[in-house]
Amino acid sequence: MKIAVFVSGGGTNLQAIIDNTKTGILKDIEIVLVVSSSPDAYALERAADNGIKSAVIRSKDYPSKDDWDQAMTDAVKESGAELIVLAGYLSLLGSKIVSAFSNRIINIHPSLIPSFCGPGMYGIKPHVAALARGVKVSGATVHFVNENYDSGPILLQKSVDILPDDTPEILQKRIMEECEWQILPKAIRLIADGRVEINNNIAYIR
Ligand code: GRF
Repeated sequence: MKIAVFVSGGGTNLQAIIDNTKTGILKDIEIVLVVSSSPDAYALERAADNGIKSAVIRSKDYPSKDDWDQAMTDAVKESGAELIVLAGYLSLLGSKIVSAFSNRIINIHPSLIPSFCGPGMYGIKPHVAALARGVKVSGATVHFVNENYDSGPILLQKSVDILPDDTPEILQKRIMEECEWQILPKAIRLIADGRVEINNNIAYIR
């Protein structure tokens, strides 16, 4: 299966996918395109280092949101990707790409949805909020993407315990290493194997 990965920052989740295509559970998966919302994303270097085609597609470079949405849709269609993986991608997708790839876009979010998600809950913020609320577990969620933030069907979740000395940064690192880098490749595997069905906004794994 061919996939496109959308990024905005460091790209450690992209790296986890790349590593799994080489030596892990995604050996039959090809990353045909990396799309970045920023020219400065380190994720672009990871793509280049691994010979993966990339494109910077920013809404501010287009006359309207609609044109940007169309450009994104065209780029992915042209790449031949069947699945779009949002791996630390910070922009809200437009309606054209969401409907062109209906139930074919997944996102990784660094909390157990529906806690600590939605507009503005990115980067360190979900971890700050989790510690401020005093929850005893947190984690990460892979979910399908619709036109609203973090509200599509949940595919996979993994949790970690909150530890007494946790700071937002320590928790963020643990959730990345123990949750995000595990469940995002696993979600791609499940979809590639045709094991996921969606009914009434619920994802079922067969
Ligand atoms: C991750 O925590 C991801 O869950 C969130 O943004 C961060 C991106 O990290 N959506 P990276 O760019 O994959 O290193």
